[in-house]
Amino acid sequence: MSHYQVLARKWRPRDFDSVVGQPHIVRALKNAILKKKFAHAYLLSGTRGVGKTTVARVIAKAIRCPDLSQNGNPCLQCESCLSIEKECTLDVLEIDGASHNGVEHIRELIENVQYLPATGKHKIYIIDEVHMLSKEAFNALLKVLEAPPSHVVFIFATTMPEKILDTVLSRCIRFNFKTITESILVEHLAMIANKEGIRSIDEGALRAIAREAQGSLRDALSLFDQVLSFAIEEDGPLTQEIIYLALGLPAEDTINNILAAVLLCDVKKCSSLLRGLLEKGVNVKRIALSILDQLYQLIQVSAPAPVPNWPFNFGKEILQQVTRAELFWIYEVMVKDFRWSLDALLPEKVTEIALQKICYRRTFFKVDRRELGATATVATEVSPGVSPELSPQVQQQVQAQVVPPQQAVPSQVLLRQRSSSEDLANNFLDHPFIKETEKIFNSKVNRVFVKENSEVIETNRE
Ligand SMILES: Nc1ncnc2c1ncn2[C@@H]1O[C@H](COP(=O)(O)OP(=O)(O)OP(=O)(O)O)[C@@H](O)[C@H]1O
Ligand SMILES: [Mg+2]
Ligand SMILES: [Zn+2]
Repeated sequence: MSHYQVLARKWRPRDFDSVVGQPHIVRALKNAILKKKFAHAYLLSGTRGVGKTTVARVIAKAIRCPDLSQNGNPCLQCESCLSIEKECTLDVLEIDGASHNGVEHIRELIENVQYLPATGKHKIYIIDEVHMLSKEAFNALLKVLEAPPSHVVFIFATTMPEKILDTVLSRCIRFNFKTITESILVEHLAMIANKEGIRSIDEGALRAIAREAQGSLRDALSLFDQVLSFAIEEDGPLTQEIIYLALGLPAEDTINNILAAVLLCDVKKCSSLLRGLLEKGVNVKRIALSILDQLYQLIQVSAPAPVPNWPFNFGKEILQQVTRAELFWIYEVMVKDFRWSLDALLPEKVTEIALQKICYRRTFFKVDRRELGATATVATEVSPGVSPELSPQVQQQVQAQVVPPQQAVPSQVLLRQRSSSEDLANNFLDHPFIKETEKIFNSKVNRVFVKENSEVIETNRE
């Protein structure tokens, strides 16, 4: 029975040219190796799955390859290149710093370092996760780094360079690996899908995987594996829908609909959409992150300039239903409320309540109807943003809170009074319900407050 080889292993680059997203590193290394001016110690740092171990192995091949190509790539045909790929040479030693972190391991290594390579001119030591070495192990390593034998090259890899002693850092040539951009991830996934003969796949679907991978190519390939095994029995193209199901992500359309419901104060719809996603097994944190991400995008495109690509499934008119101050207030409240809702005992329910609170915002504070439409690219006269789905009582309450035009205040004052999210929050705090709650709370703890305050004042005076 043959084993399935995961994509991340199958597609590990064998030479410099197959490494993506790190052109600055590849170029510097190729030049150094071609000119035989490579250093005795390199430190490759960067986040998970961006090519550190891969590049360390390519460096080892290139330094030892007797048949280096003109552009600095190892030949991949010679005995040395092949033995490194099969991991059956004593001249390239790969040490896992996490499990070999004691001083005894490094002492053993130092003894070994003195011996010449069995073949070729150089012996390479790759120490992965080097930040995991103990302090004593680092000190032992420092000794050999100060005066390494000329046939030895050390390559250290780490995700946490800040944990490495400065004395070690200053003896290494350091390369900081970048996280891989979304567009490079998409391109790379498309190339692999094509070479693997995978049936047609939406670009949007690849983008969803890339976004989820957050800059790590290994993560992108592992997620792709996950999607492929999920969709193994399905015919037709791999759509965004399939990707979302396979990865347990909320579909963009549904998040668009939740956002629209929030903007239109549509409590019922907002809750039922959220519950629908939760019933499908979508993680509440993912939902919260996606809502925030889309609201961020909406705020970006709400500037009074033409928007070339409108990224939502609802029209631009929706921006006429909310003031800009409201948008910022919603964003601020979501950021704060999701923090506690996701940490709560019942995060799903508390997140729903947080969204409901935002939907009910116009029953808590006033909205100036003359500011409605101001957020839209083309401002038009519109009615106050009351969702038709709110109950008649709530609608009435909302209408009553909207400032009628005859109570006009000079526009500058109005701007100062109403345009910041802080003002809106203050209006919220002015609400009778909040005041009442505050009064009850204060009556219970007032004495404690007074005592603490006087103590604080006294300390400050000193
Ligand atoms: N820059 C890259 N170009 C092409 N493929 C890459 C790149 N980075 C990662 N990969 C893919 O991801 C896999 C894992 O990469 P690698 O082991 O080099 O990551 P790493 O940076 O060492 O991660 P870790 O910090 O977790 O050890 C590779 O086998 C390869 O398929
Ligand atoms: Mg690694
Ligand atoms: Zn070779």
